[in-house]
Amino acid sequence: MVILIGGEKGGTGKTTLATNLAALRSNEGRDVLLVDTDKQGSASDWAAVREEIEGVPRIPSVQVFGKQVTSQVQDLEARYDDLIVDAGGRDSVELRSAMVVTDRFYVPLQASQFDVWTIERMEELVEQAQAINPSLQARVFINRASPHPQVREASEAEEILEEFEHLVFSGVVLHDRIAFRRAAGNGVAVTETESPDPKACNEVQALYDAIFEQTETAHAQEA
Ligand SMILES: Nc1ncnc2c1ncn2[C@@H]1O[C@H](COP(=O)(O)OP(=O)(O)O)[C@@H](O)[C@H]1O
Ligand SMILES: [Mg+2]
Repeated sequence: MVILIGGEKGGTGKTTLATNLAALRSNEGRDVLLVDTDKQGSASDWAAVREEIEGVPRIPSVQVFGKQVTSQVQDLEARYDDLIVDAGGRDSVELRSAMVVTDRFYVPLQASQFDVWTIERMEELVEQAQAINPSLQARVFINRASPHPQVREASEAEEILEEFEHLVFSGVVLHDRIAFRRAAGNGVAVTETESPDPKACNEVQALYDAIFEQTETAHAQEA
């Protein structure tokens, strides 16, 4: 399966979640390739740091740029159980090239920075991609939500996304937690650190379940 974590806004958590998902998937015994299409190369850096760590499954990574993303993903898909594509960057060539060969497209929206313009643009891209790739499933999740319980970022996102036809809210909300920053710097997932933060682990697991197991939430949103 090809999973694309993307969006045109920087700093929303694309690399953080792509790498965490790759690790969780690898720990399930799947043969995972991390495809880094962002010239910043943070996903590849993460995979390189990880090479030095004992006791965690190795995750190979490749860097692919430009329109080649489409053909490369198609070629590589046959050689791995799963491809996790980190599509960062402001330029959307990689994002658009990946969307036409992706099964699940997940877009992190940074909480408290909802920007309807960005969502509208993403909706348009999804609509175009679905014309070529009708099985593309596009979902939004919230990342870096405030840990204060009174902040209702999820319902705010749900309200905004109601108007959109192609981009659907997954129901998944991840909060701003130091555990995500720490794990990223060390080449691991939040579940692989020495003393894992259970809340961060549950959140990343919820995202994983939404993507790979078609949870109730994902279905409910579709109805
Ligand atoms: N849920 C989170 N909690 C805390 N920090 C986060 C979280 N998600 C991302 N970050 C931090 O935010 C910054 C941007 O994240 P990153 O994954 O690099 O974004 P992107 O790939 O979309 O540009 C990084 O410093 C990362 O550690
Ligand atoms: Mg990134």
